[in-house]
Amino acid sequence: MNLNNAIIHLITGEITLQKKELLYEGKAKKMYLSSEEGYLIQEFKDDATAFNGTKKGVIPHKGEINNAISSFLFEYLENYHIPTHFVEKLSSTEMLVRKLEIIPIEIVMRNVAAGSLCARYNIPEGTIMEYPVLEHYLKDDKLHDPMINEYHAYAFGHANPEEMHAISRIAAKVNAILKSFFDRRNLILVDFKMEFGKRGLEINLGDEISPDTCRIWDKRTHKKLDKDRFRHDMGGVEKAYAELRDRIVNS
Ligand SMILES: Nc1ncnc2c1ncn2[C@@H]1O[C@H](COP(=O)(O)OP(=O)(O)OP(=O)(O)O)[C@@H](O)[C@H]1O
Ligand SMILES: [Mg+2]
Repeated sequence: MNLNNAIIHLITGEITLQKKELLYEGKAKKMYLSSEEGYLIQEFKDDATAFNGTKKGVIPHKGEINNAISSFLFEYLENYHIPTHFVEKLSSTEMLVRKLEIIPIEIVMRNVAAGSLCARYNIPEGTIMEYPVLEHYLKDDKLHDPMINEYHAYAFGHANPEEMHAISRIAAKVNAILKSFFDRRNLILVDFKMEFGKRGLEINLGDEISPDTCRIWDKRTHKKLDKDRFRHDMGGVEKAYAELRDRIVNS
């Protein structure tokens, strides 16, 4: 049976898609094989980490909130013809995704100065970038995700020039779409990280888009509604995540 039938069944509530063995457990999510070749079940955990896993904690309901926000934003981006791995939200903490060959490079887009950019270039937090900044980081916890450029990606065999150009194009488009999405909700998309993967020759946006992977501030108060509240013990983490979910999903 191919997935389409399974989706048809899903809509009619008859679940025929089975969750199979655990493929990978990361710091924030678990990836399971499914009964459908080429499709994974991505489960969001309440576990939170920061500073390359040196800081650990649990944020109640984070898994549910990040799954709701990621599902909503992936579906929204698909409407703008952004190719993502998202297929279907399956439960409060699970989504069905296309299995990708992840390119181990985190793509960070920055619209406002925050985090490591401030430290690296001595720029005050909150400084608006004249032009969105795109950065590349090698996904390698042992090396603390070092910053790289395209040439490292080619030399290390992670992606070729066509793929890196496609990724930069999609990343810039995602940033433009989400920046105005959040602006209409009186929110500032300060910065966010993306992961991309290959599916055959196609490049898809994978992983998640959530307050774990974005910095999002209230436009009027600059109140932080993201993982910085956990990073810097600002308190009110769960409440801020829930507020962001409500301002995204229920708007
Ligand atoms: N569609 C997909 N197909 C295959 N793997 C995916 C897909 N989407 C995300 N992944 C991978 O699944 C894992 C998700 O787990 P999690 O986000 O907890 O990651 P992690 O490895 O701890 O590391 P990091 O937090 O640095 O991403 C990541 O390694 C991510 O690259
Ligand atoms: Mg991750």
